[in-house]
Amino acid sequence: MLEKKYDKELCIRTTGLREWDFGVENYNRYEATPYMALDKLFQHYKLKETDKVVDFGAGRGRVAFYIHNRFQIPVTGVEANDKTFDEAIKNKESYKYKLEYTKVPIYFEYGLAEHYEVESNDNIFYFFNPFSVKIFMNVVDNILQSIKEDHRSVDIILYYPMPKYKKYLKTKTPFKLLNKIRLPELEDRKEKFLVYRYT
Ligand SMILES: C[S@@+](CC[C@H](N)C(=O)[O-])C[C@H]1O[C@@H](n2cnc3c(N)ncnc32)[C@H](O)[C@@H]1O
Repeated sequence: MLEKKYDKELCIRTTGLREWDFGVENYNRYEATPYMALDKLFQHYKLKETDKVVDFGAGRGRVAFYIHNRFQIPVTGVEANDKTFDEAIKNKESYKYKLEYTKVPIYFEYGLAEHYEVESNDNIFYFFNPFSVKIFMNVVDNILQSIKEDHRSVDIILYYPMPKYKKYLKTKTPFKLLNKIRLPELEDRKEKFLVYRYT
């Protein structure tokens, strides 16, 4: 099975789920983007060595480790669940290419995505349904504010996009849909990536 194989290669553990405790409304559970989906995304979407990625709701860090290993670019993962965050940190210790992150950083921040201070060189933002659209709007506002301060081209990548996220980006922000990457191997029609760009 691909999930176990890739985890083993990277010396990390990212399979499985983690629900939030009862009563948490706006925050979604942990579940990793399938590795085959990441393979497909990066067949069609190219990263440059000057890019810097932020995964909002990074979970155990699968997307961060995959990108760091494959493209050797800096990646930040923001995670608000303390147990899941601890697992990302454990993964960082066992990660096979950990010596590489002294040259190219891979960094996990414990906290809420809506409180993350967007850095002037962050330019690719990844979301796999981490939270409600209300929180998403806050995070996108922070991204737009950062663009205002440090003008640059920025991409937002949505995996398994929710209609409310799409509607918000389309009707309330200057982001334009650039690419749609489908995953016909998976039966669910929502299994796809949407890439939006602000130029
Ligand atoms: C569906 S998982 C995606 C994991 C990872 N990005 C991936 O694609 O493999 C969503 C993650 O977002 C986290 N999360 C939910 N609300 C959050 C918030 N407000 N700030 C940061 N992380 C959050 C959850 O704990 C969970 O680990």
